[in-house]
Amino acid sequence: MSDRIDQLAAEARAGLHSANDAQALDAWKSAFLGGKGKVKGLLAAVKDVPAAERPAYGARVNTLSKELEEAFALRRGAFAASAPSGAGPVLDVTEPGIHSSTGVGRSHILSRVRDELVDVFARMGFSVAEGPELEDDEHNFIKLNIPQGHPARDPIDNFYVDDPSTSARPRMMRSQTSTVQVRVMEQAVAAGGGRLTSPIKVIAPGRVYRPDTVDATHSFMFHQIEGLYLDRGVTMVELKSTLLHFARAYFGPEAEVRLRPTFFPFTEPSAELDLKIRLRPDQPVRWMEVGGCGLVHPRVLSMCGVDTGEWSGFAFGFGIERLAMGKYGIPDIRMLYANDARFLTQL
Ligand code: DAH
Repeated sequence: MSDRIDQLAAEARAGLHSANDAQALDAWKSAFLGGKGKVKGLLAAVKDVPAAERPAYGARVNTLSKELEEAFALRRGAFAASAPSGAGPVLDVTEPGIHSSTGVGRSHILSRVRDELVDVFARMGFSVAEGPELEDDEHNFIKLNIPQGHPARDPIDNFYVDDPSTSARPRMMRSQTSTVQVRVMEQAVAAGGGRLTSPIKVIAPGRVYRPDTVDATHSFMFHQIEGLYLDRGVTMVELKSTLLHFARAYFGPEAEVRLRPTFFPFTEPSAELDLKIRLRPDQPVRWMEVGGCGLVHPRVLSMCGVDTGEWSGFAFGFGIERLAMGKYGIPDIRMLYANDARFLTQL
């Protein structure tokens, strides 16, 4: 019996396909879907089907009937759109299109690199967090253990929106995505009614602003991707293996990581992160500095309301332009912002 359904389905599809004008379509409809059509015939034949198989048989015939109705409606719609309505050109939908001379648009290389980075970290269990670009000094500095009077707060090195010498809580364009660490911890603690109740594992890509003089490696606006992982008993081992995993997922199985001791106010210990990568098979491996990292300073945790007896964690921050320039061999950061199609279409 089910052969009969399949056979009719094939016959109906072929018939619909070869119905090339309105008349043929109408004839097809009454032959298959009409009151005395073949689908109805199939339904009538249910009496020949063993009782136990009847429900399944009926359901299959109904599905076929729906499918054919839909296919018919589609085909009739296509005919209606292209049918000559008296005078006027006929639209031949089978004619090859005209190639556009302007080319097809696509995401900017920086957006693509950001998306790739997010993808790699998402596979390691990080979710994406966001924070505002217009920040205040509490999130950009104070809660990152960069107190009043610290040289990093100098107005020469920051885009303040309020005068820091007169405002109690001056607003500024954020100079680092580390601000998002603070916001994420604050939100998690608030959600837990004043304490952190579960681990945090986030990355935060975004724009940052610094009044640097523009040259081949500096821009007053650039992008960073920040990471924060808080859990019970997190050590440098988790940090280094996460970074190695990232480096290999992004740059290939040959990549290596190197941590060089340094100082950041918000991590202890702190390290500069270098990646050893080979861009192309014919090129030598080389070390590239991509950012900073470390174990989150207990003072930062406390200021965000996280219990340092229970939680520890690591953080890192990379420059997205750096990674893009390293990966694609781009010699000048300004090329990333010039919107020159001759450059962008090469990537
Ligand atoms: N915020 C630092 C910068 O902009 C980069 C950084 C270093 C971020 C160490 C971190 C970190 O999260 O742990 O230079």
